[in-house]
Amino acid sequence: MDAEGIAYWSRPEHHGWDEVWLNHPLVRARANQRVTGSPDLWPLASLRAAVPDRLPLPRTASIGCGIGNLEHSLIDLDLVRTVVGVDYRPYAIDVAARRAAASGRADRISYRCAQARDFLAAEPDLDAIFFHSSLHHFTDHESLLRLVRGAQRPDGVLFLDEYVGPSRNEWSWRDVLRWNRMYWSLPRSVRRTRIIRPPVSRDDPTEAVESSRILPAVAAHFEVVLRRDYGGNVLAPIYPSLRRPDQTGGPSDAVFDDAVRRLLAWDDVASARAQSFHTVIIARPRRN
Ligand SMILES: C[S@@+](CC[C@H](N)C(=O)[O-])C[C@H]1O[C@@H](n2cnc3c(N)ncnc32)[C@H](O)[C@@H]1O
Repeated sequence: MDAEGIAYWSRPEHHGWDEVWLNHPLVRARANQRVTGSPDLWPLASLRAAVPDRLPLPRTASIGCGIGNLEHSLIDLDLVRTVVGVDYRPYAIDVAARRAAASGRADRISYRCAQARDFLAAEPDLDAIFFHSSLHHFTDHESLLRLVRGAQRPDGVLFLDEYVGPSRNEWSWRDVLRWNRMYWSLPRSVRRTRIIRPPVSRDDPTEAVESSRILPAVAAHFEVVLRRDYGGNVLAPIYPSLRRPDQTGGPSDAVFDDAVRRLLAWDDVASARAQSFHTVIIARPRRN
């Protein structure tokens, strides 16, 4: 698993179907707009509006931190005073710790190689807990979020930026047929693969393993202060099959961007009709 993990998380070209779509500037701008109301303000900025009186939050944790990007943004934006990143992959923690040291921030960003559940069970009174694209890799969200609640102060903050769509075994032929109809209406030069397959990562069996259970588990243990859906219902499954302008036989930048704009328009409709696949949530622990 670790050899896979190393390549998977340290090389953008190996990133899963749920991430790459957000790297396109038009898509990023739309997601930002839907979450923060501005194409230039990334989702973390919504924390400033939701808990303005308590920033920077003194003691916080980023669960499933990978090679450590979110933690730097939290410090850059002065949203937290300190953050500990937690991941069970030694390689990821090693890279993340070296990056924190190289940036001169080791006094505010630290890393722990641990199972998230072990860390949460032993760490009380955190001011905030962050999950960025990591909660959908867990099973049994009900018990996990109980632990998250227990690890927080009563006035703690939970921040999620997550895939909350169907779990990997929940895709129907209707979903797949719909994506393929849209895909086939795009120009030939933009289509890299013959068909769109169900977005089930074969490299990572934890991908979306029980993702449809996330929202009910959050509601059981937290009161949602802010929720901003940003779709992905069409773009996330289709984008990895597109041929990019820099690939052999690829479309021009203009043709590619036009295809992305069409997918964005369909994405807005699809994520308004059904539950959005991606969302940002800020929540507080329930008192009961
Ligand atoms: C999709 S990556 C996200 C990494 C990072 N948060 C980001 O957004 O770039 C999910 C991470 O969660 C970690 N993870 C999954 N299950 C975990 C667990 N039970 N305990 C600790 N880390 C876990 C994985 O090792 C992986 O690095």
